[in-house]
Amino acid sequence: MSLLHKSVPHVIAVSSGKGGVGKTTMAINLAKAFHELGQKTLLIDGDFGLANIHLFLGEESHQSLESALSGKCAIQDVIVQTSAGFSILPSSRGDSSLSYITPQVLSGFITLVDGLQPKPEVLIIDHAGGSIREEELQLIAAAHAVLLVTTPELIELYDTAEYIRQLYLKCGLSQFSIIANKTKNQKEMRAMMIKLQQLVGFDVDVVLKNIGYIPCCENKSRQVLVTPLNRFEKLSSNGLFTDMAKKVWDESTLKTQLSGLIFFYEQSLNG
Ligand SMILES: Nc1ncnc2c1ncn2[C@@H]1O[C@H](COP(=O)(O)OP(=O)(O)OP(=O)(O)O)[C@@H](O)[C@H]1O
Ligand SMILES: [Mg+2]
Repeated sequence: MSLLHKSVPHVIAVSSGKGGVGKTTMAINLAKAFHELGQKTLLIDGDFGLANIHLFLGEESHQSLESALSGKCAIQDVIVQTSAGFSILPSSRGDSSLSYITPQVLSGFITLVDGLQPKPEVLIIDHAGGSIREEELQLIAAAHAVLLVTTPELIELYDTAEYIRQLYLKCGLSQFSIIANKTKNQKEMRAMMIKLQQLVGFDVDVVLKNIGYIPCCENKSRQVLVTPLNRFEKLSSNGLFTDMAKKVWDESTLKTQLSGLIFFYEQSLNG
């Protein structure tokens, strides 16, 4: 991993065409992998209104992003340093004033993130997923790498394909990194990618790059609390998530070098 552009955070969007496919699980494991690769990593809960990253990690959140956006506290007061090594920026649960991104929220959010000191090297945004609202799509499309999580289930592939088309048609986004979750093996992953490309259609000029697959890991014991980190402990120690993190880093490097964070801000604000 090249650390030449340490001063510019790599902004990575994690999203999906459908809810419940494993975005938060992947975002958390990738944040840990980036931390283990030596990157100062901030994971932002982009599920405004129904945030759960802090719950998944067993961390207490005393303030939320919404409090910082409304000026009730400083952004630094919201950030939680997790025991896994990376930081999180929790959002709130049940605050209907912020259940979706408006242009005002978007600009406030970007201003706050811009003011973060010290700046993170990797900034992962775990999106709510499934939303095709303009502002949400703009925020995703402005990231340096867009990671879509899906499973090989046909109905989920339909949603992923439509989501990709929307991001292309509305925001001009043409590069996507795909994580195949709950996927048995390489063969199933390859078949999934072919099907996904067919469903997206060949009338849109998009590049779909698979960055790996994760098998279904059910918890064997009901006595143990299963978290996104201990569910994949073995896969993680085999380097699966660090391999993915390196691929995502490479995917985002070109855009980061070309335009830096300015690109992210301007793209998000101007659409
Ligand atoms: N590979 C897997 N094997 C077994 N369980 C998994 C796997 N991936 C995710 N899960 C489980 O599926 C559930 C949904 O995962 P997660 O919350 O990460 O999805 P999400 O896409 O973030 O959902 P939402 O759209 O609601 O934010 C969780 O209980 C998670 O532990
Ligand atoms: Mg989630």
